[in-house]
Amino acid sequence: MCGIVGYIGTQAATEILLSGLEKLEYRGYDSAGIATIWEGEVNCVRAKGKLHNLRSKLEAIETPAQIGIGHTRWATHGKPEEYNAHPHMDTAMRVAVVQNGIIENYRELREDLKEKGYVFRSQTDTEVIPHLIAEFLKNPPSLHSPSPFFEAVRQAVNKLEGAFAIACLCADFPDELIAIRQQAPLVIGFGQGEFFCASDTPAIVSHTRAVLTLENGEMARLTPLGVEIYNFAGDRLKKQPRLLNLSPMMVEKQGFKHFMLKEIYEQPGVVRACLEAYFTNDPSSPINLGLPAEFYVDLEQIQIVACGTSWHAALIGKYLIEQLAEIPTQVQYASEFRYAPSPLTANTLTIGVTQSGETADTLAALAMEKERRSGKEPKYQPRLLGITNRPESTLGQMVSQIINTHGGLEIGVAATKTFIAQLMAFYALALDLAYGRQTISPDKLEEIINSLRQIPKEIEATLEKQEHLIEQLAHDFAETTDFIFLGRGINFPIALEGALKLKEISYIHAEGYPAGEMKHGPIALLDAKVPVVAIAIPGKVYEKVLSNAQEAKARDSRLIGVTPVKDGEAAEIFNDLLPVSNVDELLSPILTVIPLQLLAYHIAARRGLDVDQPRNLAKSVTVE
Ligand code: M6R
Repeated sequence: MCGIVGYIGTQAATEILLSGLEKLEYRGYDSAGIATIWEGEVNCVRAKGKLHNLRSKLEAIETPAQIGIGHTRWATHGKPEEYNAHPHMDTAMRVAVVQNGIIENYRELREDLKEKGYVFRSQTDTEVIPHLIAEFLKNPPSLHSPSPFFEAVRQAVNKLEGAFAIACLCADFPDELIAIRQQAPLVIGFGQGEFFCASDTPAIVSHTRAVLTLENGEMARLTPLGVEIYNFAGDRLKKQPRLLNLSPMMVEKQGFKHFMLKEIYEQPGVVRACLEAYFTNDPSSPINLGLPAEFYVDLEQIQIVACGTSWHAALIGKYLIEQLAEIPTQVQYASEFRYAPSPLTANTLTIGVTQSGETADTLAALAMEKERRSGKEPKYQPRLLGITNRPESTLGQMVSQIINTHGGLEIGVAATKTFIAQLMAFYALALDLAYGRQTISPDKLEEIINSLRQIPKEIEATLEKQEHLIEQLAHDFAETTDFIFLGRGINFPIALEGALKLKEISYIHAEGYPAGEMKHGPIALLDAKVPVVAIAIPGKVYEKVLSNAQEAKARDSRLIGVTPVKDGEAAEIFNDLLPVSNVDELLSPILTVIPLQLLAYHIAARRGLDVDQPRNLAKSVTVE
């Protein structure tokens, strides 16, 4: 939610900030702005809408300033208008601030500052920050602080409540940029005589791979001479940068029209990376998740918290864990669980699934669980596991164990390859649990792992067979307003995921249903204008899904079948077939989701929509 970037060094800041913001647009794109310092003044330029609007405005007023901050916004407080766009400034226009997060106590601060004569020009929570800094700048400088500006920022930050990341500068201190982290991500980049801060590494990877991730309660003071790190009490901290395992190439489309399509095509590679990481060739220890034995001792129950697509992956995780390892498992929406948790259960593993590792609801649910279990008798003690694509994220700092999902950087707002990677993590976890509890025979385990090893080839075959087919099919749905997705058993969450993908990027209303539930109400929605996609994989529920599909056909719906079966009843009832390879039903979700991702992609692309940055959404939802 919102992207921030900052630069201080020897080059012209404007272009560096704009290209950094381009890489952060996935975090929000309803307005953008930058502030630089030149000739003793702050130059603040902002524009409503996408970043290209800001770029056009800046063409006329570019300066050679070598310090600046920038922001791309996803509106929380105040409409997406230019006057609410960041940076925000104090009344005297000397201090400029960009923020990602929410300042929860902004109302009291605002009233107090208004009484002191500060003039507010926006509806945002952020605007209190530059005024507060200006107020603290009036205090006499402290001998113990590195600079009066740093000290004023530090004092202001100590007044703020909420989750935020901030970057700020002041015209009276043109060689200082201060960056702050409190529960919203912020990295510092170290170049040759130039330094950066950003919400995420893609914004700076084309300049430097040496980065330091700030932790909560830390502030960085960037000057042309280097970077100093402090805590909110003003104590200097010793920290070392690390080298990023990310190349500038990875943040480009590499010939694909959209990042989403590129990321769909990267899925065979992602599955290979997960297979490599999670499974070994050693029959005595075939799964290697690196989890400590105490995680598994006396385990009676698992609860999983997640949001959106990660929640769908968690539902498949539940199916796998219950069917393979026989452990009762609950899946909760993190946003619900945090306010209405289930009663405490003993010997429980809590898993947070979040590709970004920054989703506010998931982090808050885990924090709540950790707190309510701490200090209780041993069987209630927290056991927290994170499944994430970003082990360096806030989640990584919060839980004791992580399964890294090896999806690589995902830029399209609609999650695709990170979903597949989460599924792979759940296959490995469920098999590991089953192996440890001896609920699976060694032969069966070997058979499943061998079949998983074939999946990358099957995805490649599916992509090759279907891209063109689905592109053609998408023509027919350019005007469609409603879609239904049906699945049962392990493919019910794939029906949910197919519907979510379509909603997110094509703005078509779509519902995912367990196929057997249709007749209990939603069947009333069906007619010739509502296509139905049914996932029909030979196995436990194949015949049942076909019967449910027949019920839809009898209401005139156009039926699209995601199935490996090309003859018999399937061939008769489906108007269109999206063929997938014939794999064991247990592994089928890794394949059945692919045509649904492509269907959503091609319908949205055909409608001419902004596939990678759909309206109202942001990749990483760091607010409640
Ligand atoms: O980063 P997370 O996995 O925690 O994100 C959770 C959801 O916000 C995310 O999956 C969202 O639903 C995606 N846009 C789905 O495509």
